Amino acid sequence: LNILTFDEINSTNDYAKKLAEKRPDTAILIVADHQTAGYGRFKRDFYSPSNTGIYMSLLLPINKIETDLPTLKACVSTVKALRLNFPNADLKIKWINDILLNNKKISGILAESINDGKNGIAYVILGIGVNLNTTDFPLEIQDIASSITDSVTVNRNKIIADIVNEFFKINHAENFLAEYIRFCGTIGKRVELVNGNQHIVGTAEKIKSDGSLVIKDDKKNLHCFNSGEITKVY
Ligand code: BTN
Repeated sequence: LNILTFDEINSTNDYAKKLAEKRPDTAILIVADHQTAGYGRFKRDFYSPSNTGIYMSLLLPINKIETDLPTLKACVSTVKALRLNFPNADLKIKWINDILLNNKKISGILAESINDGKNGIAYVILGIGVNLNTTDFPLEIQDIASSITDSVTVNRNKIIADIVNEFFKINHAENFLAEYIRFCGTIGKRVELVNGNQHIVGTAEKIKSDGSLVIKDDKKNLHCFNSGEITKVY
């Protein structure tokens, strides 16, 4: 694995996209202390202040590496790495790409894919952000965001290495979906999901083998989602 580190960068995902233009044939990890334009799903900002969080992207050439359901795999590897380092933290996955501690978001994952110019995907970029001992969140996310610890000493490099190691272990594991489901706090809850202009309220029933979420509405109709965001958990 090639590793590139930066004190400051606009976004490790953007940097990975630029690197992909050079068509590297090995996996590359990009890590920054601080991002000036970190972003998440739906083009939202990802708060990325200096030295208190993990801001990393894995650029994966898909001919070399099996990258089925990459977002789910990255979620499981991040949760496992965080549990290794913070065994008492009650961490749960919120479908599909968030990790929560006591119902507040401490980590988000953003998978982006790069096309090969013909008809297939050439690279997957897995962007992982974790609030380790982050403080002073912007006002608009103060109620929903948190960090995993208030300790001033955190071994960031070890946690990054653990995430990467867990990812490469999980990448070929048959049972990673079972682990995703085990860590997923969404199943069984009454939720509101927004997908484009579709809003639905119902019970999160299960996660299918393709990673999609099945919600049963109040008329007992089942709806299956490949994308979308859970906006409320009741
Ligand atoms: C989300 O919450 O919707 C996903 C957040 C992903 C943030 C990470 S931080 C490293 C990488 N670089 C980015 O600009 N975003 C991802």
